[in-house]
Amino acid sequence: MITTPYTFAATANTIIHTGARPVFADIDPASLNIDPEEIAARITERTKAVIPVHFGGIPCDMDRIGSLATEYGLTVIEDAAHALGASYGGKMIGSISPFTAFSFYATKNITTGEGGMLTTNDSELADMVRVLSLHGMSSDAWKRYSREGHSYYEVVVPGFKYNMFDIQAAIGCVQLGRESQMRERRSEIAAMYGSMLAGLPLARIDGSRDDREPAHHLYVVVLDLDSLSVSRDQVAQAMESLNVGVSVHFRSLHLHPYYRETFGFAPGDFPNALKAADAALSLPIYPSMSDDDAAVAATVLKSVLERFSS
Ligand SMILES: Cc1ncc(COP(=O)(O)O)c(C=O)c1O
Repeated sequence: MITTPYTFAATANTIIHTGARPVFADIDPASLNIDPEEIAARITERTKAVIPVHFGGIPCDMDRIGSLATEYGLTVIEDAAHALGASYGGKMIGSISPFTAFSFYATKNITTGEGGMLTTNDSELADMVRVLSLHGMSSDAWKRYSREGHSYYEVVVPGFKYNMFDIQAAIGCVQLGRESQMRERRSEIAAMYGSMLAGLPLARIDGSRDDREPAHHLYVVVLDLDSLSVSRDQVAQAMESLNVGVSVHFRSLHLHPYYRETFGFAPGDFPNALKAADAALSLPIYPSMSDDDAAVAATVLKSVLERFSS
């Protein structure tokens, strides 16, 4: 299965747990999303699926990925952990491919604490996933104990315990009601950063394009390290010391010991991912962030970059 190295471990680990091999395709430096032409270059007769990751909530080039999938008979499984509410070509992410996986982990655009959601437009696949998610039983446990049900059930496949529990779902329903309002606020903060950071030695990865509406899960900038006397990590430390919390998404998977040692990757195998892994910095963005907080973060970044300008 082909995916991006510029992602969280879960993307590649799920491939490995199916018994398949993750094949990485390098990213487009403009969006930090998987580059469809790099996918095309890696397809062989053993390729079964493509897993694009909508990095930071910016939709991947789904038209090109979809046409490659059709041409080579591949299944597309979107990793939309960051992309709830994003859309591509007028279609919501989650309505395009046979499977799209969303995360509702605590840091995500909406949360149920842990857990997530899988969407599909195929009712047979939906039934299969429901059965697999609850021990492989042919009907939901609650139906077994309902008045019209009875305690008889059949296990039709060795399933898992991947169901969302009701308390989580109750939290999720309330969160879902606030999703568009929270996304709107993220979008305002991203727009503010966009104008406040103009002219600085960095590339803004904000994903604004006519055919895509990002979810603004992250606000990532890629520093121009050639214009600085320090590393990205030193910039991050300087910002932290001035009380602006920043983060790094991601240290490319091909650099981590497990994938490097198991699959024999060298750092230079994915040059764009390597470059981004050294230079990307995620600025704070969250719905309750005030305009003043965003202005402080932008001002602190500006002053730190000026201080370390080479
Ligand atoms: C790109 C990506 N995919 C998958 C996941 C996994 O999500 P979860 O923690 O809900 O399993 C994450 C989590 O941060 C992620 O960033």
